[in-house]
Amino acid sequence: MPGLAVNVDHVATLREARKINIPDPVMAAGIVELAGADGVVVHLREDRRHIHDRDVRILRKTVTSKLILEMATTSEMIDIALEIKPDLVTLVPEKREELTTEGGLDLHLHKDAVSDAINILKKEDIPVSIFIDPDPDQIEIARRINADFVEIHTGVFCDAQGPKKRAEAFDKIVESVKLGRKLKLGINAGHGLGYQTIKAFKGLSGIDEFSIGHSIIARAVIVGLDRAVREMIALIKEL
Ligand code: PXP
Repeated sequence: MPGLAVNVDHVATLREARKINIPDPVMAAGIVELAGADGVVVHLREDRRHIHDRDVRILRKTVTSKLILEMATTSEMIDIALEIKPDLVTLVPEKREELTTEGGLDLHLHKDAVSDAINILKKEDIPVSIFIDPDPDQIEIARRINADFVEIHTGVFCDAQGPKKRAEAFDKIVESVKLGRKLKLGINAGHGLGYQTIKAFKGLSGIDEFSIGHSIIARAVIVGLDRAVREMIALIKEL
């Protein structure tokens, strides 16, 4: 059975809406682990729009499952990873103006920088995954430059409109999982996955772990709202 790593970035997004200290992604990570997740994921972005350095440092001390650091291939982030020593680094492309990661890292363009980052991180025993589109060329380059894992971008499949486009996008994921396995890469998958789209993966073997954030945090807001309102009403009743 594939594992689940939960991305808590959007707990921090909510915190940053007010620039105060709640909700705390560190506390969320504890709940995520108690609920049985196999890992906690955070993306420390260059602009620190949600997760902050403080979060990653505390999470390194509190997470007992697996701490996965998503980051751009920059010298600043590589230094932070060397200091924090996450259980896995996932290298992702990053554009300042994007709302979320928009696609996989293009290894045709960035192979040398990614390869250098992998060498530096692996020298310190930090395993490395590369977030890539479900494309055989990308997977083969990832193998050649010694990645431990690839994370297959599932966003195109999740966003595909209509059964034909959805099936085409899913076939690419299936082929990528098969190729990655053949090349002895670890295989993670994520981006855009939700409570409906995850069902498509039934019966597909070879995926080590799903990385899911937004849909889980969004659902938590909805399923937790009833209790949150009742708790406040109970306090007001006592006034
Ligand atoms: N995997 C990667 C590489 C990501 O950048 C993200 C978003 O931060 C996710 C998975 C999770 O995507 P979502 O929030 O859509 O579940």
